[in-house]
Amino acid sequence: MEENINSNDSLAPRPTGPHISFPITSLIIGIVVAVVIVTIIIVNLAHTPTNTNQLPQESPIMPNPTTSNTAPAPTTKLNSGYEMPVLGLGTWTLDNETAENSVYTAIKVGYRLIDAAQYYGNEAGVGKAMKRAIDEGLIARKDIFITTKVMPSNYSRAYASIDESLAKLQTDYIDLLLIHQPGTNNRATYKALEQGVKDGKIRSIGISNYYTPNELNEVLSFATITPALVQNENHIFYQNTELLEYAAKDNIKIESWYPFGGRGHTEESFTNETIVALTEKYHKTPAQIILRWQIQAGYIVIPGSSNPDHIAENFDIFDFELTSTEMNDIAAINKNQRYENW
Ligand SMILES: NC(=O)c1ccc[n+]([C@@H]2O[C@H](COP(=O)([O-])OP(=O)(O)OC[C@H]3O[C@@H](n4cnc5c(N)ncnc54)[C@H](OP(=O)(O)O)[C@@H]3O)[C@@H](O)[C@H]2O)c1
Repeated sequence: MEENINSNDSLAPRPTGPHISFPITSLIIGIVVAVVIVTIIIVNLAHTPTNTNQLPQESPIMPNPTTSNTAPAPTTKLNSGYEMPVLGLGTWTLDNETAENSVYTAIKVGYRLIDAAQYYGNEAGVGKAMKRAIDEGLIARKDIFITTKVMPSNYSRAYASIDESLAKLQTDYIDLLLIHQPGTNNRATYKALEQGVKDGKIRSIGISNYYTPNELNEVLSFATITPALVQNENHIFYQNTELLEYAAKDNIKIESWYPFGGRGHTEESFTNETIVALTEKYHKTPAQIILRWQIQAGYIVIPGSSNPDHIAENFDIFDFELTSTEMNDIAAINKNQRYENW
């Protein structure tokens, strides 16, 4: 008996309109494909970060696949238009030689943000490490984001000090230059930095140790280039979300120094019971939980270290995510307690 492969034909509606030149199955496949594409676009849009609890999207600062051990940290876009990694290496208390070794180690691990300062006396060491990494083909200059700070004793000669920092860092531009702390001559110092931007010596300007909206407003009152960032003491015991939220209206980022409370105080952070409970859940160290919280809360963070194991450990925080309940639990640790008074 001949198999009737068109046994359901009688159920199919018969075309009544003009002749269609392709089979009905092609039309159905086309519709299904279109629906799938539209669904993918909608799902992607829904996952675009809309609040500071989510990490910024990946940026064009990409790893060199032949030389980097890990992918670089995600970046966030500054109001100056430049991308800045959300995690970097702090260098306070590191002498030139230690800074050179630590920065070189960090670059190999995948760090692309380094925090230096004229005051730390180690810009030359940072510059040497950067040059070495560039000479060895680990990175190009454009791949690394260098921050330094004008120190108070240079406020009256801020523009000249930019050239000195450039020479020590062995570079022709500084990614981010900060005023280290409020002082006399703030307005003139800030104007010198603005001139540095106009002259191509600086890409972004920031300020450090400005803790209240009023203190920030004073700078905004004379700035013709809005500061891109405020770098402040910030950790689980001093969170200052008031400034984080206030600064966000001008897309001014907050960068945390002392994420672990600073040398001599780290144990207080590392033994906090809320933090320790999370280490067990995620199989991460207290340092990693704290850094992850800072980044998810919307801060840029620059833990300091001269220990290669710690440098690598601090970078290994992009494979887990704290829940919003856990973020709230860490927020509740805050007690507005600073360790320093500058
Ligand atoms: N703008 C300002 O006024 C200002 C002031 C202070 C600091 N800063 C900047 O902020 C950066 C961060 O602050 P900070 O370095 O003073 O303090 P921090 O990052 O809070 O703590 C540094 C301490 O933590 C230890 N540490 C780092 N990673 C660790 C880990 N995974 N496990 C255990 N211990 C770890 C370090 O020791 P090891 O070396 O042994 O790892 C060091 O003793 C500074 O380096 C500097 O760049 C800016």
